[in-house]
Amino acid sequence: MNNLLVTGGCGFIGANFIRYLLEEAPGFTGRVINVDKLTYAANPLSLADIEKRFPGRYVLVRADIVDRPAMARALDAHGVDAIGHFAAESHVDRSIVRPDDFIQTNVVGTHVLLELFRERRDRIARFHHVSTDEVFGSLGPTGYFTEDTPYRPNSPYSASKAASDHLARAWHETYGLPITISNCSNNYGPYQFPEKLISLMILNALEGKPLPVYGDGKNVRDWLYVRDHCTAIWRVLTRGAPGRTYNVGGRSERPNLDVVGLVCDLVDELAGPRPGGKPRRELIAFVKDRPGHDRRYAIDCSRIERELGWRPEESFETGLRKTVRWYMEHREWVDQVRTGEYQRWIKAHYG
Ligand code: NAD
Ligand code: DAU
Repeated sequence: MNNLLVTGGCGFIGANFIRYLLEEAPGFTGRVINVDKLTYAANPLSLADIEKRFPGRYVLVRADIVDRPAMARALDAHGVDAIGHFAAESHVDRSIVRPDDFIQTNVVGTHVLLELFRERRDRIARFHHVSTDEVFGSLGPTGYFTEDTPYRPNSPYSASKAASDHLARAWHETYGLPITISNCSNNYGPYQFPEKLISLMILNALEGKPLPVYGDGKNVRDWLYVRDHCTAIWRVLTRGAPGRTYNVGGRSERPNLDVVGLVCDLVDELAGPRPGGKPRRELIAFVKDRPGHDRRYAIDCSRIERELGWRPEESFETGLRKTVRWYMEHREWVDQVRTGEYQRWIKAHYG
């Protein structure tokens, strides 16, 4: 793997993955070509130090994965020999309000990349498609999603990701292309745009703002620290069997209310009490439920553990503590996001 193209590398998981690649990934000495459209969710400043610290090994190309000529140019100009496909519209609430971009990027964009890969099959050795456990739908109080669980997506987001998974699978079955897929549970950690549950709750708790919990707060998610997701993707990219799907999870199921309560306790402990000494749990506010809100996700990740020897390193408690600390210690990044400075950077550099 000399020239790895990462799509969506200015987003939360993509940026963490590029850091992992250049700083830690065992045996990776190649270059990273980060292709990103730079949507609202992208923050190139998350990787501001990387270009300087790894001269000649990192390049950012602003392009839309739906734009076939632009993507062909990126693949050819940089001699790409492997692809890690992270780019997506990723936020469920936004998909409910305006599904259009989800269909374009997640479905049409994935199709474009698969076709360009097919045309270059002699030069590109691997395509890894990053996906989600949401494609499996919702579980009752017991049971787990396995790789054989039938797809039953419930939101426009998860339906668009399910469609992209089916395309990736079909391009392997029909054209024999070396494609792998991973379906991962909820990620949290550094550089997450503060619209997702944990990042939003940490910042609101620090700022003494209300903590909106949808419905009764008893919906369950399985939480995985983002670096553990990155190590899983690296394992699959380098050792996964072509055509195979891998579930990735943290074995850390928690009801949302417990997650928010734990965030409150950690912020109380690490940032000190609010004025008047009131606990941050008092900021919790139950709000209208999300339409079609999946009740429970839980992942059986025994395949990737057994076949590729992957294990998460962080427990939910250690990962959450690190995450709260990270947001407290990176006020500059938080302010760039809160004030929209990152968008001004994009405008200044790309118009
Ligand atoms: P994100 O929203 O933080 O980042 C998405 C990135 O993709 C952004 O940088 C954005 O600019 C870019 N992008 C969007 N549309 C694009 C387009 N048309 N062309 C090029 N770039 C485009 O998302 P994330 O949370 O980092 O998720 C990354 C991937 O992981 C997604 O495929 C998502 O479905 C999947 N995933 C996410 C989670 C999670 O908990 N966040 C869990 C499992 C799987
Ligand atoms: O499971 C993997 C998926 O996890 C990824 O594929 C998605 O890209 C990612 O966004 C995430 O989806 P969720 O919908 O599970 O994540 P979100 O952070 O939006 O919500 C987590 C839970 O918290 C969910 O049950 C809704 C609830 N929630 C969310 C927000 C933003 C609240 O109660 N209040 C909130 O303000």
